Amino acid sequence: MKVLLVGSGGREHALAWKLAQSPLLTRMVAAPGNPGIEAICEIRPISPTDVAGLVVLAREIGADLVVVGPEVSLEAGLADALAQAGVPCFGHSRAAARIETSKAFSKDFAARHHLPTARHGTFEAAEPARAFLQGFTPPYVIKADGLAAGKGVVIAATLEEARAAVDDMLGGRFGQAGARVVIEEFMAGEEVSLFALCDGETTLLFGEAQDHKRAYDGDKGPNTGGMGTYSPAPVATPQVVARAEAEMIRPTALGMAAEGAPLRGVLYAGLMIENGAPRLVEYNARFGDPECQVLMLRLRSDLLPYLLAAATGGLKAMPPLAWREEAAICVVLAAPGYPDAPEKGSVIRGTEADLGEGVALFHAGTARREDGALIATGGRVLNVCALGKDLSQARARAYAAVAKIDWPEGFHRTDIGWRAL
Ligand SMILES: Nc1ncnc2c1ncn2[C@@H]1O[C@H](COP(=O)(O)OP(=O)(O)OP(=O)(O)O)[C@@H](O)[C@H]1O
Ligand SMILES: [Mg+2]
Repeated sequence: MKVLLVGSGGREHALAWKLAQSPLLTRMVAAPGNPGIEAICEIRPISPTDVAGLVVLAREIGADLVVVGPEVSLEAGLADALAQAGVPCFGHSRAAARIETSKAFSKDFAARHHLPTARHGTFEAAEPARAFLQGFTPPYVIKADGLAAGKGVVIAATLEEARAAVDDMLGGRFGQAGARVVIEEFMAGEEVSLFALCDGETTLLFGEAQDHKRAYDGDKGPNTGGMGTYSPAPVATPQVVARAEAEMIRPTALGMAAEGAPLRGVLYAGLMIENGAPRLVEYNARFGDPECQVLMLRLRSDLLPYLLAAATGGLKAMPPLAWREEAAICVVLAAPGYPDAPEKGSVIRGTEADLGEGVALFHAGTARREDGALIATGGRVLNVCALGKDLSQARARAYAAVAKIDWPEGFHRTDIGWRAL
């Protein structure tokens, strides 16, 4: 099978690493890829939002399947264009991706289908938004409707701050993405990410992971795209997962199909667990990054036939997924200044060294300089991942590998996995 993989982050490197192990794979091309992916397969410099360019590439290589990593490609309509071209695509249509790309749509959908989640309201004007805020107690949760690169959510401690956030968003801080705001009830509890493959109707649970959103140790500092993950996550007990599947995942797939926008790809449910009961924080329409990395390490089954089945409506016929008993961890190495203003260009050495047993290194924001040196080009730059017989061993292996990478400018959290240990 010939596969086109779209994306350039650590998530896509982990997908490439796993797909490359499939005995069914005959050729893989990634666009645009990164230096880590380039060590696995051919890469082409086509942007993940260049829909026309990606369709041409898929045709050129005779792709049997296109695997879409990032949500921006879905929002740009890549899956729709591939459907027109008759190329199977693991990734939702633009309409289905609204489950992530519009928080107003997603929350209204949750209300229509009685999914357990925070009470909410959607507003296009400041006055009614302010009035609605009065009905809550602090902290207040204010969200820009559209994609805002993980920066569109404000948890405000005071009414004053909450009003400022509303004004800020409606005032154009996030452009069109903030033309509508969602205000919702604050939910207490512990967060976990739950994944499911969807083929339009059938859903297949695809594991869970816990992320660390804040930049610094002890969950301090600004929110980021994620500084590390581990899986399994003890908070996602079999009971919690079964409830989330019955009360959210299945009704969501059925509801989206009934509304004419079937899900074909990953459904990522951000859950808040309180007293063993899951509530929906948000949906995403793609694998989490860096959650995907630990899932790929733990997955024993061949990934490729499952992605193809999700793309083509065959999930029901697939055998159960097999997972390793081991725990997996991912430590993100980030550039100085991340998340606000990451510095680019510093040189990274030691990535080709033997990083030890059970370790996998994924590139997230790197490039090759003309002289061949590996340099940092993004906020999150490398993902040091490891498997271990338990989380402590995985963690010790990952941090031992981190110590072998020579990148004085980079920083990372030293406490990934603390909640579970
Ligand atoms: N109603 C809520 N109650 C408590 N915390 C919340 C609530 N909504 C959001 N949060 C917090 O804010 C974070 C970001 O919210 P959300 O996941 O909706 O935004 P996002 O920008 O789409 O995130 P991501 O980049 O992970 O997709 C959540 O992970 C959670 O910690
Ligand atoms: Mg989101």
